[in-house]
Amino acid sequence: MDLEQQLAAFKVVPVIAINRAEDALPLASTLVENGLPCAEVTFRTDAACEAIRRIRAAHPQMLIGAGTVLTRDQVDQAIEAGVDFVVSPGFNPEIVSYCQRRGMPMVPGVNNPSLVEQAMAMGLKTLKFFPAEVSGGLGMIKAMAAVYPVRLMPTGGISPTNIKEYLAQPSVLCCGGTWIAPTKLIDEGNWEEIGRLVREAVSLVQQA
Ligand code: 3PG
Repeated sequence: MDLEQQLAAFKVVPVIAINRAEDALPLASTLVENGLPCAEVTFRTDAACEAIRRIRAAHPQMLIGAGTVLTRDQVDQAIEAGVDFVVSPGFNPEIVSYCQRRGMPMVPGVNNPSLVEQAMAMGLKTLKFFPAEVSGGLGMIKAMAAVYPVRLMPTGGISPTNIKEYLAQPSVLCCGGTWIAPTKLIDEGNWEEIGRLVREAVSLVQQA
């Protein structure tokens, strides 16, 4: 399966900001054991790269993305750590082009028609819609879907209360969000509560 097919199958991607690499394996086990073997590990923390490396070594089948990738150096680090795809909050043609040269699938963030067109011009069809809720949410997604043949990954303000409405839109491939594995719960090592949130998310997207 290519990246788009895998994201469409999961329907939801936990966005992770992890402070300690030691937490990576218990977190990954919690995701895998509760039915969601995928994660976008953001480069917002210093532990991101080492966390990805450890998760990749222990879970070769897991779908792992690097998130909040802003520089070429971070692209290199993410590839070296073993990611399957790279995500950025915005659309930076230089980073998109660098990922393309390195053969790494890239999902840049967009939140308006001009950015969608620029991404399409670079051959991209799968885009992050970020920050989803404050950028117009479902209304904006419907308006853009009427015009552009792209599939979107809304992230930013998605939660158990609205994910089913987002997934009901044909242009929505999957949703991303931090609510499934919040940094506070990771810091506390509260795998039980994260497990519960993972099961809740899996159950919700199965109903969507
Ligand atoms: C991201 O990194 O993609 C966003 O910060 C996620 O937004 P959320 O915290 O509202 O899920």
